[in-house]
Amino acid sequence: MRVLVTGGAGYIGSHMVKLLLDGGAKVTVLDDLSTGHADAVRGGKFVRGDIGDFHSTKELLRQDGIEAVIHFAASSLVAESVANPQKYQAHNVDGTAALLRAMREAAVEKIVFSSTAAVYGEPQRLPIDEAHPTRPLNPYGASKLAVERMLAEFCAAYGLSAAVLRYFNAAGAAPGSGLGERHDPETHLIPLVLRAAAKNSSVSIFGNDYPTRDGTCVRDYIHVSDLCVAHLRALEWLAGGGKCDAFNLGNGEGATVLEVIEAARRVTGRDIKSLSSARRAGDPASLVADAAKARRVLGWQPAHPGIETIVRDAWDFEQRTAP
Ligand code: UFG
Repeated sequence: MRVLVTGGAGYIGSHMVKLLLDGGAKVTVLDDLSTGHADAVRGGKFVRGDIGDFHSTKELLRQDGIEAVIHFAASSLVAESVANPQKYQAHNVDGTAALLRAMREAAVEKIVFSSTAAVYGEPQRLPIDEAHPTRPLNPYGASKLAVERMLAEFCAAYGLSAAVLRYFNAAGAAPGSGLGERHDPETHLIPLVLRAAAKNSSVSIFGNDYPTRDGTCVRDYIHVSDLCVAHLRALEWLAGGGKCDAFNLGNGEGATVLEVIEAARRVTGRDIKSLSSARRAGDPASLVADAAKARRVLGWQPAHPGIETIVRDAWDFEQRTAP
């Protein structure tokens, strides 16, 4: 299969490109390198460009005979989206509209879209299934939901086929691959905890008075390799006639911030210092997925569900890339 991966130089996208190449797919990567890294693209054809550039994307889709698109390219920082919502409208919504137009004109009819648990907003019940109300609390989540709606409309009107994958907390790394989280600035808990371990510095705990088992926030961490396998299953589902649907991707189990730090202490063998800080604005107390639908419909099963494995694989990456 010939696949275009937008955002293929990013954290999850680069893992996806490697998995596709390992499986023998022909891959074209389109990435503007605004946050990604060219050296994370381990093969296939790399094109530096913007999904918003409709004419170039259309040509690329035609020239490379693309059959399906896996669309990761997006801005994905919640706090930045609150400060600069226009950027999220432009990159995530308008950029995807241009991509979909290019796909239509090039007669590419299959897309797997990176969505997020942030489309749900404050949980009304746990675990969260796909029928849970979608009331995003920030422009990032709203931009992803806007794209989900656009995809549903395009599916109904133009015969597009779309698998929407709502990620909970992507984490970890493919062991030995040299791929991992290289965000700048880094805002995610697991890499920050591991950098505190590596540098003998401390990590902040954002809030310890939440209504959870130890007062810190619960998140459903999902191994990046498991996430990528779900995209392969989604491609197979589309190839088999799947039309338009959304799927949660998580393990169905959450870890608290303190449990993540404890797991990192066990994995690294280091005493990681932590500081109690104020709550971070907009953080729900708990986000845990009900991913039964992805298991049932896509036949997906996470292979690395434990928080310790996820942290160990992230630590492997941190140690290989430490300056
Ligand atoms: N946290 C800390 N200290 C830190 C960083 C994070 O205590 O230094 C806490 C957060 O408050 C949160 C948990 O660790 O409770 C996880 O935080 P992350 O920033 O790693 O991840 P988020 O849950 O905030 O974000 C993830 C995705 C977003 C998505 C969001 C949906 O990364 O893309 O889930 O709510 F929008």
